Amino acid sequence: MPAPDNLIFKSYVSDHQDDLLALWQVCDLIRPWNNPADDIRQCVENPSSELLITYLDQTLCGSVMVGCDGHRGWVYYLAVAPDYRTQGIGRALMASAEQWLIDRDVPKIHAMIRHDNLLVRGFYKRLDFVDGDVQLVQKWLKRET
Ligand SMILES: CC(C)(COP(=O)(O)OP(=O)(O)OC[C@H]1O[C@@H](n2cnc3c(N)ncnc32)[C@H](O)[C@@H]1OP(=O)(O)O)[C@@H](O)C(=O)NCCC(=O)NCCS
Repeated sequence: MPAPDNLIFKSYVSDHQDDLLALWQVCDLIRPWNNPADDIRQCVENPSSELLITYLDQTLCGSVMVGCDGHRGWVYYLAVAPDYRTQGIGRALMASAEQWLIDRDVPKIHAMIRHDNLLVRGFYKRLDFVDGDVQLVQKWLKRET
């Protein structure tokens, strides 16, 4: 489904922070081990990433964080507010993230899905993503306080 005609895309600025954190909260994207304000700060301070948000009728209703790690593209914090789902906004956000990477010649896009959110795999499948044949390993370099 094409996104609503009056959907507006913006690049995040600090005025959006409270509404954005509320969106991530209601979309269950906040975890105790991630400080979302710090994630935002890192994203906006880094020239290789951007935080895109959408507005519909003056309401911040969607977000996606996109960036390139020097090799591949990644998306984080893809979110559409519950009342705004299934009208093409998530697809439009991902199309913008993909275009952001294409504009920078990044050949591939990755998304991490938490094990407790595997239902969202259906969404990515609809957008032609395929399961990767990898096991993610990780290590904390700095514990958030
Ligand atoms: C995932 C999410 C962003 C989808 O947003 P949305 O605006 O409802 O998605 P769209 O309306 O653009 O849907 C695009 C397509 O995916 C399908 N789709 C959407 N959610 C789906 C799901 N959970 N399972 C299967 N298909 C799904 C739609 O039917 C649509 O198909 P079509 O375009 O071929 O008709 C939204 O459900 C969300 O914010 N979830 C909570 C946060 C989250 O899990 N983020 C991802 C972290 S990895």
